[in-house]
Amino acid sequence: MEDFAARLPKAELHLHLEGSVDAGMLHELDPAAPLEELRALYQYADFNAFLKSFGAVVKRLERPEDYALVTRRLLERLAAQNVRYVEIIIAAGVVLWKKQEFGPIFDAIHDAARGSAVEVRWILDAVRQFGVEPAMEVAHLAAARQDRGVVAIGIGGSEERGPAEWFKDVYAFAKSEGLHLTAHAGEGTSPESVWEALVLGAERIGHGIAAVRDQGLLRHLRERDIPLEISITSNLVTGVVKSLEEHPLRALYDAGVPIVLNTDDPAMFGCTLTDEYRLAAKAFGFTEAELTGIAENGFRYGFGRKGVT
Ligand code: HPA
Ligand code: ZN
Repeated sequence: MEDFAARLPKAELHLHLEGSVDAGMLHELDPAAPLEELRALYQYADFNAFLKSFGAVVKRLERPEDYALVTRRLLERLAAQNVRYVEIIIAAGVVLWKKQEFGPIFDAIHDAARGSAVEVRWILDAVRQFGVEPAMEVAHLAAARQDRGVVAIGIGGSEERGPAEWFKDVYAFAKSEGLHLTAHAGEGTSPESVWEALVLGAERIGHGIAAVRDQGLLRHLRERDIPLEISITSNLVTGVVKSLEEHPLRALYDAGVPIVLNTDDPAMFGCTLTDEYRLAAKAFGFTEAELTGIAENGFRYGFGRKGVT
């Protein structure tokens, strides 16, 4: 299995650029910052503490060159794991919150991804609890960059402090512009939150693990062919799932819901995509044939190319 998971051609559909930044990279960007202080950012007691740390890491990415450097590092790591296709989520909502200009940052990461062995597309994420206005701005930023590989918008952050229904007009606008739609939902909350994301028109659900508690929702996801972007280690580290034994991956898979495996925030959760596949095999008995099918889902459910340069 060790070699099988490593060799398998893989795709990632739920991977935050900023969550791929480790303490070493932050130190490289700011050598004056004590390493111990930077390492302390990578400890979280719960999901909300994780969100705070995520924000603190993003704050340390100041210049477009910083974003470019971490993009190159991420793509090197993905190529080494035989990841062939990736949709990288950019916390555009946090860029706006930092009062930075998004254009030069996107230009820098787009340039950094040129020539990579990994085929790259981008998803611009808004932050739920920041509200509708900045989310609409994120949708406009995404719509204007579809010729450069932006394929979708999403919402992340706190489901409790930013209900999906707030973003109805944002998603309708994004759809009318030809963008695809995804949303973090049902991560630490409820099946209702997943239903709300579906009402918005989400074509994939980030996490969505709460769906396991709603048979009707499982049926809906299966029949409408809507995949869940699952990240096992993420769920354990943020504490939304209390133990590996309690993780619903096997139950969701057995219910016929399309599954894609992802790292979410690999540096912040100390995981790799290859290890997520190994974990699925070890903890839940996924066979090589099943893992091959899951890896194929990564390509099948990708939002893909449309006249990209
Ligand atoms: N959920 C919500 N917000 C996030 C996540 C996540 O998994 N990762 C980064 N921001
Ligand atoms: Zn995420």
